[in-house]
Amino acid sequence: MRQTERLTSDEAGLARAAEILRRGGLVAFPTETVYGLGADATDSQAVAGIYAAKDRPSFNPLISHLDSFEAARTQGVFDEMARRLAEAFWPGPLTLVVPVAPTCTISDLARAGLDSVGLRVPAHPLAHALLQKTGRPVAAPSANRSGRVSPTDADHVLGDLDGRIDAVLDGGSSQVGLESTIVACLGGAPRLLRPGGVPREAIEALIGMRLEVGSEGGGAPLAPGMLASHYAPRARVRLNAASVEAGEAVLLFGPKAPEGADAARITLNLSKNGDLVEAAAHLFSYLRQLDASGAATIAVSPIPETGLGEAINDRLRRAAAER
Ligand code: TXA
Ligand code: MG
Repeated sequence: MRQTERLTSDEAGLARAAEILRRGGLVAFPTETVYGLGADATDSQAVAGIYAAKDRPSFNPLISHLDSFEAARTQGVFDEMARRLAEAFWPGPLTLVVPVAPTCTISDLARAGLDSVGLRVPAHPLAHALLQKTGRPVAAPSANRSGRVSPTDADHVLGDLDGRIDAVLDGGSSQVGLESTIVACLGGAPRLLRPGGVPREAIEALIGMRLEVGSEGGGAPLAPGMLASHYAPRARVRLNAASVEAGEAVLLFGPKAPEGADAARITLNLSKNGDLVEAAAHLFSYLRQLDASGAATIAVSPIPETGLGEAINDRLRRAAAER
């Protein structure tokens, strides 16, 4: 348990909220859609804290919030369509999923390991002021426990997350009460990934065509319930490895190395002292590094199913699934 501060919507409250975010803490803040649970998007350890506080059983890519289109442009690549949408609807309840820019500083964990990134410039004046003061992209899903409804005031947030986050910035009620509309601009026609605060008709009127409906990864719709937005390594992934075969890449967890680990091509440890938040923070970047080693197989030590272990195992099982 930690003490959750309730911050007022004045200069002092904003300064405190920004300070907490800049040192890696969790702050819930109002946006015009719903309250978001914010963390410094560039700090994977802080982002891991979001999933822990929400009790999320899987790592979805998160939306990163910025104070301006100029700031968003340093994180993502905007094609002509994305630029027009940003200029028309930002600040506002629209999220654009675009390819990551070479200068992107948003962590792998916030992007769930993908090469695309979800960006939004919110219109709420407090959110805007907080982002400006923080000076970094802020990752924020809705500020509720997993499986509960999205909060539209500070009391809802505290009802779910009191004692699990550092602070909530109280800005009264959110006006829209519905999450942002998500549109992917990943080359080709824009796709609607999630209906929300900006009506589809308004977007279609602007772009002069019907919006295709896409799966959340922005590709062709898959079987119901299956997201395309999962980072998949090229190598085969072998879970719960008790021993290592020569030449395998190895992803360890905890102090104990499996039998044969000396013969590994490369070994990385998610957390030597078995800390699941630290492990979550490393997961996607370590998978990428192991994959880049050229090994045919990535062997993964057993990881407990408690706390963030559930989300880590969920991602690893998807990575291990036959493709
Ligand atoms: O209104 C909102 O959008 C609220 C407020 C707080 O801003 N935020 C919100 O964030 O709903 P979040 O993190 O719960 O939304 C995550 C969704 C994912 O489920 C996915 O659909 C989409 O955003 N998303 C984010 N990045 C993506 C990516 N790179 N590729 C595909 N989908 C992405
Ligand atoms: Mg939500």
